[in-house]
Amino acid sequence: MVESEEPTSGTMADSLISNLESLSPLQLFERVTEQGEKVRALKAGKAPKDEIDAAVRMLLSLKLSYKTTTGQDYQAGLPPKDLVLINNGATKEDDEDLVDPWNVQTSNAKGVDYDKLIVRFGSSKIDTDLINRIERATGQKPHHFLRRGIFFSHRDMDQVLDAYENKKSFYLYTGRGPSSQAMHVGHLIPFMFTKWLQEVFDVPLVIQLTDDEKYLWKDMTVEKAYEYAKENAKDIIACGFDINKTFIFSDLDYLGASPGFYKNIVKVQKHVTFNQVKGIFGFTDSDCIGKISFPAIQAAPSFSSSFPQIFNGKENIQCLIPCAIDQDPYFRMTRDVAPRIGQPKPALLHSVFFPALQGAQTKMSASDPNSSIFLTDTPKQIKTKINKHAFSGGRDTIEEHRKYGGNCDVDVSFMYLTFFLEDDDRLEQLKQAYTSGELLTGELKKVLIETMQPLVAAHQERRKQVTDEVVKQFMTPRKLAFEF
Ligand code: TYM
Repeated sequence: MVESEEPTSGTMADSLISNLESLSPLQLFERVTEQGEKVRALKAGKAPKDEIDAAVRMLLSLKLSYKTTTGQDYQAGLPPKDLVLINNGATKEDDEDLVDPWNVQTSNAKGVDYDKLIVRFGSSKIDTDLINRIERATGQKPHHFLRRGIFFSHRDMDQVLDAYENKKSFYLYTGRGPSSQAMHVGHLIPFMFTKWLQEVFDVPLVIQLTDDEKYLWKDMTVEKAYEYAKENAKDIIACGFDINKTFIFSDLDYLGASPGFYKNIVKVQKHVTFNQVKGIFGFTDSDCIGKISFPAIQAAPSFSSSFPQIFNGKENIQCLIPCAIDQDPYFRMTRDVAPRIGQPKPALLHSVFFPALQGAQTKMSASDPNSSIFLTDTPKQIKTKINKHAFSGGRDTIEEHRKYGGNCDVDVSFMYLTFFLEDDDRLEQLKQAYTSGELLTGELKKVLIETMQPLVAAHQERRKQVTDEVVKQFMTPRKLAFEF
């Protein structure tokens, strides 16, 4: 039996193809896989020739539809590119970086190759044109996270701007998985940027605290997860969000309180199969069913009907999600489902990772205290951690350093300064001085310590002002200061 023959033409194939048109790339991928298995089973079972022939013709039609829809040839075990998650061994090349919601790992001291990631994830680069457009639309100087490529990738941001320029509003959605009491400075990145977006675009913001996710993934009680959610809400509020424009919610709380939210969750659940989440998130048969259905809960806030109190019951308000790129798999899935449940696809802005103190091979992670500067650290702890652990791009001896200069591309202190030192001229001076050997590692670390200590202390001061009552207000479902 040759599988390269043309699929049947005529009415049967035509009607098959028109039925297939309504399927998403992932559903098509699944249909091809199932059909391939069927053909193999028929052949192995020595089924009658005409039965095998019919099954092969169907397989070829399916492959053709898959190619027409995705622009990619079907490859067994490789879901369509836009949806592939890299933690799945079948899809990751040996020399590729590992990036998913739970892991970030690369062998390159300069960190993850983000340009390659854009290609692999099928997102778009935030280029100068887009940054200029944001500047024109808002009338504000672009945030240094944009100017310095810290937010480097997007999905459909140009559409958000098209609509915004035509006076069509949108809303922001971001979140946090409250895995412990203390957040680290890396977690501030999406929140600082979201605050800026909220200010310059003047739009509503919803912040999801996935205490349910942390209960499912970590060894903690439901009560503890909820407690952490409220504690983390204080840190988020301390970033300076406007109480009249921001709704923060815990899944454990809000899911029971909002039929709109739950309706969207079940809609997503109905349109994603176990095979699909296995392909995207790498779940296995032994993962609990809570994990398997969780992605629908992170997807649902992308739809405005999850918040009828804010959007006056309107269903089609565009959503924009700022996050680090580790969260993208959730939203690739969401964007795949959205048109099938009659909702707009959420747009995204992705940031790079704030590296661990030990180097950019991995991200700062709350589970490794020495990799992170926490928002609860004292000035002394910050100083000790930076001096002791921050990976240096300097030379082995002062003489060599003066002669050959340091390497800013791998130096963690310099990397941290690109995130937190806002003054472009000063940053450039430091770069020049370090690269030429004029500035030593200890001196660069001192600049970082003097930048981080007041930043963290100011955060702690603002957090102290956030009372339980303020948290309650932010977390009460209510109308915000916008008319829809
Ligand atoms: P979580 O708690 O792991 O992370 C919260 C936010 O911080 C980003 N992030 C980082 N950014 C830069 N450098 C790092 N080292 C770093 N580590 C984490 C994450 O990308 C995220 O934006 N499941 C999610 C919670 C969530 C969410 C969302 C996040 C629910 N809905 C919508 C973003 C958008 C989580 O556990 O995030």
